[in-house]
Amino acid sequence: MRTQVCIIGGGPAGLFLAHVLHAAGIESIVIERQTKNHVLSRIRAGVLEAGTVDLLRQYGLAGRMDRDGMPKDGTRIFWEGKEDFWIDVIRWTGKRMMVWGQTQITEDLYAARERDGGEMIFEVENVALHDLDGAPSVTFERHGESQRIDCDFIAGCDGFHGPSRKAIPAEIRREYERVYPFGWLGIMVEKPPMKEIAYAYHSEGFAMASRRNPMLSRYYVQVPSTDKVEDWSDDRFWEALHRRLPEHAHGEIETGPSIEKSIAPLRSFVAEPMRWGKLFLAGDAAHIVPQTGAKGLNLAFSDVFYLSRALITHFRENSDRYLDSYSQMALRRVWAAENISWRMTKLLHVFPGEDPFDQKIRQNDFDLLAGSEDIQRAFAYEYIGLPFED
Ligand code: APR
Ligand code: PHB
Repeated sequence: MRTQVCIIGGGPAGLFLAHVLHAAGIESIVIERQTKNHVLSRIRAGVLEAGTVDLLRQYGLAGRMDRDGMPKDGTRIFWEGKEDFWIDVIRWTGKRMMVWGQTQITEDLYAARERDGGEMIFEVENVALHDLDGAPSVTFERHGESQRIDCDFIAGCDGFHGPSRKAIPAEIRREYERVYPFGWLGIMVEKPPMKEIAYAYHSEGFAMASRRNPMLSRYYVQVPSTDKVEDWSDDRFWEALHRRLPEHAHGEIETGPSIEKSIAPLRSFVAEPMRWGKLFLAGDAAHIVPQTGAKGLNLAFSDVFYLSRALITHFRENSDRYLDSYSQMALRRVWAAENISWRMTKLLHVFPGEDPFDQKIRQNDFDLLAGSEDIQRAFAYEYIGLPFED
């Protein structure tokens, strides 16, 4: 087979890239290891930066979001089971976020791809990348048959465990990582959620109230990374959540049986460069953020903004100016998101082995944030997502 861009990975990054390229008349083939239903069955957060919301609207993917999504004008922080603090993001930035699930976005991307008749090949195995500094191609097997795609460029959108990042020579690749010594135990409950998404710091550990829709709530508590789901009955979960949230907020929590329960690890990870020859990485293939800031999906869209512009400029104007600066431009927003996510994780979690000095600094970080409009404005500027630079 032959195409202009071979996209490895049918997650949000790969599908959105295929969608934007299609809108510009550029051909691509998306190859995905799993089935479509498997991809859609993944439970993922959905807090969209203003820039991501704009991109979804620009590319005709906002119909359901604007109808069923929940605008998010700020962030609520509970502190040590007492304080209840609101960061007025829309006041400080004039911009609005949106609570809208990654699953719904991925569904709409698949629907658009099918509507546009775009090529997608599922259940591919043994994917390998070739001639990244010449005439690139991707080989794979499907149902025991070997196939090859010749292309002008390869977009590695195959997530953290995919082959694309590893195709960049080890002596070239630089990796930066932080693995956090705790996890998030999350449950899904078919009950009305709290009116606002809320983060909570408590000396017993982090907690959080979030949502998927008006009748589907998502809650998290920090647990040791050695804990197992079976260690946590629903009752034990609700008791921990109530202890970590202020008394006055208890009335806002509608408890019920969990329909899903899982523990997610927390990691910060960046691989540089995000380009090697004709290979361009986007999304989790190049970087992972801890869930605390909900930046993962937003970064995938950010990368696609820069990569699609670069590929369109190449094919339309025969200019590689954006291809040549892709890695540097994308990484600027990546590191900004890594930074705010790391600082939010430090502020809101208890670290095993932390000493009283650490605790005093954390308390002071909170006091400064709660007490200073300038610091709230700075936080809001980073939390809403940096502007896309030209
Ligand atoms: N061949 C083909 N596809 C592959 C391979 C492979 N060898 N390895 C992985 N994939 C597919 C995965 O099955 C997955 O569907 O690549 C896709 C990568 O999708 P995601 O992991 O969702 O990553 P991305 O599209 O970059 O989206 C980032 O996902 O994990 C969240 O928080 C993250 O919200 C962020 C978003
Ligand atoms: C979620 O809804 O799962 C969620 C929301 C915001 C976060 C993290 C997770 O920061």
